[in-house]
Amino acid sequence: MFIAKSLHILAAVIWVGGMFFAYMALRPAAAKLLEPPQRLALWDGVFTKFFFWVWISIATILLSGYYMIFSHFGGFAGSGMHIHLMHGMGLVMVMIFMHVYFAPYKHLKRLVAEGNFPEAGKKLNTIRQLVAINTAIGILTFIAAESILL
Ligand code: HEM
Repeated sequence: MFIAKSLHILAAVIWVGGMFFAYMALRPAAAKLLEPPQRLALWDGVFTKFFFWVWISIATILLSGYYMIFSHFGGFAGSGMHIHLMHGMGLVMVMIFMHVYFAPYKHLKRLVAEGNFPEAGKKLNTIRQLVAINTAIGILTFIAAESILL
């Protein structure tokens, strides 16, 4: 349980913390300092690197989460409200990420490669909005995880 929970929390910190850094620090700095072609190429590169770790984080969060539910809590019936909240909010976050990955991100990569920066900018804006939503859900999920008294 100790190893599963440690990997679980580490994976959640990498995902949610990475989104928080991208949205609150990298995004305003890039918008201030870079012109659209350089900014879009930067985000294309950043997403390629970060999304690789997000996939690993998602697999770790789900595998460790289900392992803890079935090995330590005897299944969902024996799991507290904080775990049900985490499970539901975590799955919503996974679905939002999968949409980002297979839709606007795929288009962004193609449009940047084609040099179509106005259209790439629209895809980046869609990704920005969805990452903002996922960051907010992620922070609420951390709070839910600690609300073991519910
Ligand atoms: C990004 C989403 C998630 C975040 C941020 C998150 C965060 C956390 C944190 C911080 C803990 C440690 C709580 C503590 O004991 O202090 C935890 C425990 C746990 N999480 Fe998650 N979690 C997420 C998604 C999930 C999912 C999807 C599942 C189920 C598949 C899950 C199942 C669990 C379980 C079973 C525990 C152990 C709870 C306990 O010991 O009382 N979590 N999670």
